[in-house]
Amino acid sequence: MAVMKAILLAGGKGTRLRPLTIHTPKPIVPIFNRPFLQYQIDLLKQIPEIDEVILSLNYQPGRIEEVLGDGSALGIPLRYVVEPAPLGTGGAVKYAAGKVSESVVVFNGDVLTQIDLAAVIALHRERQARATIVLTPVDNPTAYGLVETDADGNVQRFLEKPDAAHITTNNINAGIYVLEPETFDRMPADEPCSIERSYFPSLVERQETFVAYVYDGYWIDIGTPEKYGEVHRDIMDGRYATAPFLNLPEPRVSVAPDATVEDGATLQGPCFIDEGATIKSGARVGPYAVIGRHTRIDAGATVENAIVWPHCHIGPEASVRDAILGRHCHVGHAASVGGGAVLGDRTAITDYTRA
Ligand code: GDD
Ligand code: MG
Repeated sequence: MAVMKAILLAGGKGTRLRPLTIHTPKPIVPIFNRPFLQYQIDLLKQIPEIDEVILSLNYQPGRIEEVLGDGSALGIPLRYVVEPAPLGTGGAVKYAAGKVSESVVVFNGDVLTQIDLAAVIALHRERQARATIVLTPVDNPTAYGLVETDADGNVQRFLEKPDAAHITTNNINAGIYVLEPETFDRMPADEPCSIERSYFPSLVERQETFVAYVYDGYWIDIGTPEKYGEVHRDIMDGRYATAPFLNLPEPRVSVAPDATVEDGATLQGPCFIDEGATIKSGARVGPYAVIGRHTRIDAGATVENAIVWPHCHIGPEASVRDAILGRHCHVGHAASVGGGAVLGDRTAITDYTRA
């Protein structure tokens, strides 16, 4: 069995997810009760050939290492490679690969999917490809890398973030690749380089075996607040099957064993209440509410279609709808937060405020 390494590109600043990513780098933003990368690591663990996951980091690497550790708790060895300065997606892969000569599986550190990775690796081997890229169809490719292929699935063109006028296909780069490190010689060492704008077009130009695997199952890039909210709703709806919603019967209310839900509190599924949270009598939570660890929802408060991170306090009679709240936020008495608001950690909303 040929051993492989996985590289997770997790060094971006997560600017589009600000303010959530000011103190929590995007790779470890929580999805329910787990840091995001843990979902990717669980997927990689299903491939027995992968004996190590290399995390390519740049922004707040210490925070990520603190949360994920050496991998022993996750069941696969993790290694951290921190760039001296951001090297871009291509430079980061080259730097993280170092002296590795076996095929590498690369993941953008913000995509969640249920892809059959073993099938992608099998295609890569069968076609003896220098690079294999996963494509997925989306309605609007302008925010992604557009990829054209021929009838045999060979990549013909790679165009990163095309203008609307240049859209020729709905298949985009899903941010999952199998690559042969010997091709990395065309990227400069220790200098910024984009895998999308430079490395992939160079493979096409040189007519190397560059193969596409089209996947039309569940796929999402969690990099904006809208998508971050969407992925939670998808999991609550069972569109992406994972704990704690896997096989959870209607009304799909998931409450941690040590959370406190007082008599007289109303939980409307789907919703999730994490460890140590308290829902006071008379509070209403759900549908589509995610309540983080040790967050307290007071009497008469309503939380609906919202994600509330750990250690928040939602005061009596307050309402939180269509919003995302970072850690340690406080929403005062009878205050309301909504309309797509995204509050950074420790935001305090005074009593009676309407935001
Ligand atoms: N180590 C390191 N260094 N990682 C980086 C750097 C860097 O300089 N720059 C970006 N990354 C990481 C990010 O943390 C993220 O996990 C991944 O690389 C992709 O960067 P994004 O900033 O999220 O890119 P995008 O979403 O706009 O576009 C990319 O993903 C799309 C799919 O979601 C491209 O690969 C598109 O072609 C693709 O369609
Ligand atoms: Mg992204």
